[in-house]
Amino acid sequence: MELLEALKIRKVTRAFSDKPISDALLRELLKVAINSPSGSNIQPWEIYATNGAKTKELRRLIDEVAKDGKRTFGASYSGMVPEKYTKRSAELFREFRPYLMEMGLKNDYILKGSLHFFHAPAVAFVYIHESLTPMRLPCIGALMVYLMLTAQAYGLGSCPIGYVRGVDDVIRSLLGVPEDLRFVVSVALGYRKEETPINRFKSGRVPVEENCRILS
Ligand SMILES: Cc1cc2nc3c(=O)[nH]c(=O)nc-3n(C[C@H](O)[C@H](O)[C@H](O)COP(=O)(O)O)c2cc1C
Repeated sequence: MELLEALKIRKVTRAFSDKPISDALLRELLKVAINSPSGSNIQPWEIYATNGAKTKELRRLIDEVAKDGKRTFGASYSGMVPEKYTKRSAELFREFRPYLMEMGLKNDYILKGSLHFFHAPAVAFVYIHESLTPMRLPCIGALMVYLMLTAQAYGLGSCPIGYVRGVDDVIRSLLGVPEDLRFVVSVALGYRKEETPINRFKSGRVPVEENCRILS
C-alpha cells in the first residue's frame, strides 16, 4: 500500500478478532516501529508488550480491580480547557452511537472495551523514564504512530489506549515495570474483526484551516 493512501485510510480498531499473532510478528512490528525519530536519538521509549495468555491474564486482573467502580480513568486537564476540545470529544461519542446501537451496545462499550484492549491479543505498553517527561513525550508519540502504521502495513489493526492509566499499578505489577518509568500510552494490536459495525466508524477532522496556520 502506498504510504499516502495508508495515512489517509488509517483508523483505530475497536473490535479485534480471536486470531492470534505470533511473538515473532509482534517482535517484527516493534523492530520496525523503533525506527521512529527521537531527540538526539536517545530512543526514550521503554516498551513492555504482552501477547496471548499474558494479555488475557492482564485483562482478568484489570476486571477484578475495575469492578468496584472506584478508579478514575480519563485524561486529566490542568486549568480551563477551551470549549472546542471538550466539544470535539463529545462529538466523537455522539458519532459512535449509531454504530454501537447496531451492535446492541451503549457508549460504555468504548470505556469498558478500552480496559479490555478491545480483545486484542497483543498490547504494547510504552513508558518513559521519570527524568525525561514532558519534553520527550513527542518521541513516544512518534513511536506510537510508527507502530500503528507498521501494524497496518502487516494487515493488522491497532488502537492507542490511554484509558488504562487508571489501572497502571495492576499493569506494572504483572509486567515487572520498574518504579522510575512513567506510563505514557498503550497500543492494542491484532487482526481486525471486519464485520463489527464499530470498526466501520471513521472519525472526522475539523477543516485544516481551523487549526493549521500557514504564514508566508
Ligand atoms: C494518546 C491517545 C490515547 C487514546 N486512548 C484511547 C482510549 O483509551 N480508548 C479508545 O477507544 N481510543 C483511544 N484513542 C483513540 C482516539 O480516540 C482516536 O485516535 C481518535 O478518535 C481519532 O480516530 P482515528 O484514530 O480512528 O482517526 C487514543 C488515541 C491517542 C492518540
